[in-house]
Amino acid sequence: AKIVFEEPDGTERAIDIASGQSIMEGAVRNGIVGIDADCGGACSCATCMVYVPEDWLARLPAKDSTEQSMLEFCPHVQANSRLSCQIQVSDALDGLRLKVPQSQQ
Ligand code: FES
Repeated sequence: AKIVFEEPDGTERAIDIASGQSIMEGAVRNGIVGIDADCGGACSCATCMVYVPEDWLARLPAKDSTEQSMLEFCPHVQANSRLSCQIQVSDALDGLRLKVPQSQQ
């Protein structure tokens, strides 16, 4: 699926991520700026946070309780924040746009 990222400096980059991979894996592999992903996808670092546009929030797989509690450790968390390592890509996500926070720290 094609996923568009808005990097912290406003640059937009569209990348293809294979179904079954997480958004974080695809982003890191393609060098998207601002997705630190220090824990490598174990849902324990809270540095892979992204902002999801309103119209996409309900279309993503729901957060589990681990993701919910890890999000509380993100200093720049908003109501539309998700951890990108916890979202598996599928064809249904084609065209998803995500904003990377200015900083994960
Ligand atoms: Fe660490 Fe997502 S990569 S919480």
